[in-house]
Amino acid sequence: MSARSSIGAARERLERLGREGRALPSILSADFGALAASIEPLLEAGAEVLHVDVMDGHFVPNITFGPPVVKSIRRHTDAFLDTHLMITEPLRYLESFGNAGSDLCTVHAELGLDPASVRAEADRVGIGLGVALRPSSELDPIVEAWAPHVDLILVMSVEPGFGGQAFRPEAVSRLARTREICRRLGADPTLEVDGGIDPQTAPEVVAAGARWLVAGSAIFRAEDPVEAFLSLSSIARAE
Ligand code: DX5
Ligand code: ZN
Repeated sequence: MSARSSIGAARERLERLGREGRALPSILSADFGALAASIEPLLEAGAEVLHVDVMDGHFVPNITFGPPVVKSIRRHTDAFLDTHLMITEPLRYLESFGNAGSDLCTVHAELGLDPASVRAEADRVGIGLGVALRPSSELDPIVEAWAPHVDLILVMSVEPGFGGQAFRPEAVSRLARTREICRRLGADPTLEVDGGIDPQTAPEVVAAGARWLVAGSAIFRAEDPVEAFLSLSSIARAE
């Protein structure tokens, strides 16, 4: 049984959560052998959204986990599970992730999927939908095609696949450009940034329009993860 009252509730929660600047702990950098214990202090400190990285060893070279682990996380928390699918066939799995407890699934634009079809499947499953762009992907056509159909746009600030990489500074102008195109189209998806986010890089991405700041190493590898989460959260809320 899911901790949520109903699967469609995911979209309602997103209405509120997506409008606010926040830091999202990325569990990729947590201790997988003690996942619940690693997350617990952050939840107590007010983390309402967790970032969950799913990798298939095909779309990216690394492999993480699938719906069973999402289901286990769901048993421990009612936090909103922002699920970043770095997998080649996301459409095949949206339902499994939704049933496991994902509240939103983000698919990668580079797969060339039809935005309306993915949206229809996310709606059928009752989850939010995001689209992610690799740092080298041509931004304008992707944002123009997807913005009307998604709840979230994830501008990657590292090459997807691994935590702990250096922030790519071009993400700042890519975020600003994404915000500009969305405004022109009258769309207001949550802008998310993922990769190399820490107290040094966070202020500039927030100024460029990022609302959800994903952070793995900067939180879980910090001496005091709660303090790191709180300080990134306050930067995220600054705009
Ligand atoms: C990378 C993942 C990120 C990762 C970020 O492919 O999508 O979510 O956890 O890690 P840091 O914050 O360490 O760059
Ligand atoms: Zn991610």
